[in-house]
Amino acid sequence: MPNADFTQRCEQLIDDLTRSGQLKPFYELTSPMRPVVQIKGRGEVLVLCANNYLGLADHPEVIEAGIQGLRDYGGGTASVRFICGTLDCHRQLETRIAKFVGTEASLSYVSCWNANEAVFPTLATEGDVLLSDELNHASIIDGCRLVSKKVEKQVYKHSDLEDLESKLKAHADKRCRWVITDGVFSMEGDVAKLPELVALCQKYDALLVLDDSHGIGVLGATGRGTPEHFGCLGQIDIITGTLGKALGGAAGGYVAPSQRAIQVLEQKARPGLFSNALPATVAYSAGKAIEILERDPSLVTRLHENVRTIRSGLAALGYQCADSPTAIIPIMIGDEAETIRKSARLFELGVMAIGFGFPVVPRGEARIRVQVSAALTDEHIQRALDAFAKL
Ligand SMILES: Cc1ncc(COP(=O)(O)O)c(C=O)c1O
Repeated sequence: MPNADFTQRCEQLIDDLTRSGQLKPFYELTSPMRPVVQIKGRGEVLVLCANNYLGLADHPEVIEAGIQGLRDYGGGTASVRFICGTLDCHRQLETRIAKFVGTEASLSYVSCWNANEAVFPTLATEGDVLLSDELNHASIIDGCRLVSKKVEKQVYKHSDLEDLESKLKAHADKRCRWVITDGVFSMEGDVAKLPELVALCQKYDALLVLDDSHGIGVLGATGRGTPEHFGCLGQIDIITGTLGKALGGAAGGYVAPSQRAIQVLEQKARPGLFSNALPATVAYSAGKAIEILERDPSLVTRLHENVRTIRSGLAALGYQCADSPTAIIPIMIGDEAETIRKSARLFELGVMAIGFGFPVVPRGEARIRVQVSAALTDEHIQRALDAFAKL
């Protein structure tokens, strides 16, 4: 029999979530991720909440590459990287990522979550200070929680350059100042003020860390992300990102810093030392996704067009959505119950767009988050806007 206190605690938590309307449903898909999916018990639904920004998740070449990876290397390495888990396809992928994002080198992990948990505890040491944007992703927050107690950590107000500068000044005596930001903020859909952050980091001799998980494949004329959008390629000290969104949508993440920093991470970072290497299937499929993008940036152009069409269409219907080049469009509603109700109604209308409330976003700022894909056709977009009109 399990411990009674434990059982009661679990029941209480689920009851509380059910009563407050915060219990998340887990829809089961019976088809690949694509603009229109099949959901068990519901049938066909138009997806406006996937990170499949370029529609590469079911691209025939990406699928074929994954199969080839499986054929060439089997199911996996059955090892961490430093024992016998480093495959030549890992190195090929890492070279390709570094070239694509404009850094000296890169190192892959099984997720960007792992990459963020590798970077901060491994590379920040006693006498440093970490300055992190208050809306940074949970993986950055948790990564920062893992650093030594001898590293100071502070949060600066969201995209507030004055607040950041005052903190940089106050920590002028530190060995190393770190400024950490998302490229595209996942709940707001806004973009970091990258040129200003680069300038501040130069002025105060700080390291700039950019998590570009929602920027890679999305921003910039050729999808190289937030640095390309602002003309800052090659100016970021450390970039992290995911392979689980625009770049094939499977899983996997990377860190792209200097070659020296990679050597330290390879030797010391615990997610790489104690957790298996990226499966070859993903190394192949993500590498293929980047190759497709390098060959044909028109996918990014189509994504940008779709973003403009959906943003202006929603605004014309009276929805409050901020102007931004990103593929994340939060539709602010405020009240949590109302947001959940509206998201459920959209689902009835055949459109999947999830409502987010506290604690993912602050109380009173509940929203439906729309995410745009290059794979949406004009007909899909019209269907989506018709559903929002009926709301
Ligand atoms: C900004 C950001 N960083 C990291 C991650 C984690 O990525 P992964 O799924 O590769 O762990 C996400 C995923 O939502 C994200 O939005």
